Amino acid sequence: MRIPTKAQALALLEEGGRKNPGPWVRHCRYAGKAAQAIAAKTKTLDPEAACILGLLHDIGRRFGVTGSRHIYDGWAFAKEHGWDDLARVCLTHSFPLQDIEACSGSWDVGGVDGSKKYQKTAALLKEVTYDDYDRLLQLCDALALPEGFSLLEQRWVDVVLRYGVNPLLPKKWAATYEIKHRFEALCGVEDLYCLLPGIVQRTFPWISA
Ligand SMILES: [Fe+2]
Repeated sequence: MRIPTKAQALALLEEGGRKNPGPWVRHCRYAGKAAQAIAAKTKTLDPEAACILGLLHDIGRRFGVTGSRHIYDGWAFAKEHGWDDLARVCLTHSFPLQDIEACSGSWDVGGVDGSKKYQKTAALLKEVTYDDYDRLLQLCDALALPEGFSLLEQRWVDVVLRYGVNPLLPKKWAATYEIKHRFEALCGVEDLYCLLPGIVQRTFPWISA
């Protein structure tokens, strides 16, 4: 796959955190861990590649505090380095529903440059045929809070509180549930949450008290 090595990924994420400090870095670390754990249970996906894609899916945030523009910025950054498979995940991770209007943040479309990026992102998204790496990272983006692994619904509420609601959210959530069921079948587990260590304690801390 055309992606950086894990050492490069960890260094890039650390550098991104220095350029634009914020909870997004810890979110990416957990997305990487979730992707690795789930991929390891499938027969087809490479756990290390999944981890690298998880670590860097939001690398567009290295350029500053932006909304959905980080999707384009991550795609362009990865493309520049020849990491085409990472570029693709930077593009698709926010779209379990393959519709440019379905992502949660604002589009930062101010100015000619912003408008061009939006149009380009829309065109690129339309062309993609999703594979299981795209789906895995869409799922793992929704399983990772900066504090640790989360239930999908916890992450969804967290996103709505930060960005507000979008009329396409119910369809997007339904698409994400479908992805979760797909990976439960691929992994041969009844519920995917059993693959995420510490999720019960983080969600229901009094259970272990
Ligand atoms: Fe993310």
